Amino acid sequence: MQTKPVQLIIAVSGASGALYGAHFLRSLCVLAQGSSSLIVSGAGLRVYCDELSSTVKTPDKYLEEVLKDIPIKDRKHSFTLHDASDIGAKPASGSAQYDGMAIVPCSMKTLASIAHGLTSNLIERAADVCLKERRRLVVVPRETPYNLNHLKNMTALTQAGGIVLPASPGFYQMPQTIDDLGRFIAGRLLSLFHIPHNLFRPWEGDSL
Ligand SMILES: Cc1cc2nc3c(=O)[nH]c(=O)nc-3n(C[C@H](O)[C@H](O)[C@H](O)COP(=O)(O)O)c2cc1C
Repeated sequence: MQTKPVQLIIAVSGASGALYGAHFLRSLCVLAQGSSSLIVSGAGLRVYCDELSSTVKTPDKYLEEVLKDIPIKDRKHSFTLHDASDIGAKPASGSAQYDGMAIVPCSMKTLASIAHGLTSNLIERAADVCLKERRRLVVVPRETPYNLNHLKNMTALTQAGGIVLPASPGFYQMPQTIDDLGRFIAGRLLSLFHIPHNLFRPWEGDSL
């Protein structure tokens, strides 16, 4: 059982897989006591609109839409939005006591910046801070196929202490819907932040 409130930084960048970010935010909202910071890049908002047939124009409307089916009484978690260009916001500081950061989905551009210590926006700066403070940083990249730069950047990020959780849902769960795929990745992310969930059945072995 979760005993202490969770405080994460969640970033949504412009890789395909907007569904994964939406599922993670929804799951966190109903399962975890606490409050988190949310940063949505311009490309993240654009890809969300493209992939989920949305017309939202701003991150606050994005958040409203993502959480719209969750009644207020069922919400355990709150979110504070920060502009991706606001490099002076709370997630930019190592003295802010976050439990970690998830970037879901994570574009190869954002992953490359973090792997090389570039901090030109709040998402990249917050990730850099997580690494220097030895806090958990999980990125959910999506690209196919990978070029050598992608592979090297994922290696560098792992060597710096980050965790690469590829947007590669397992099919042994026999997913029936696209939302089942979203729940699988959201569940793997929650587990990495020690948040209990029942978004999919754990594999219990198939010994003959
Ligand atoms: C419809 C669409 C899909 C995209 N899919 C991906 C993707 O799967 N992976 C990726 O690394 N970039 C993808 N991109 C490109 C990124 O959005 C682009 O590199 C952007 O500059 C990333 O910016 P950000 O990391 O600040 O969000 C996509 C762009 C669009 C418009």
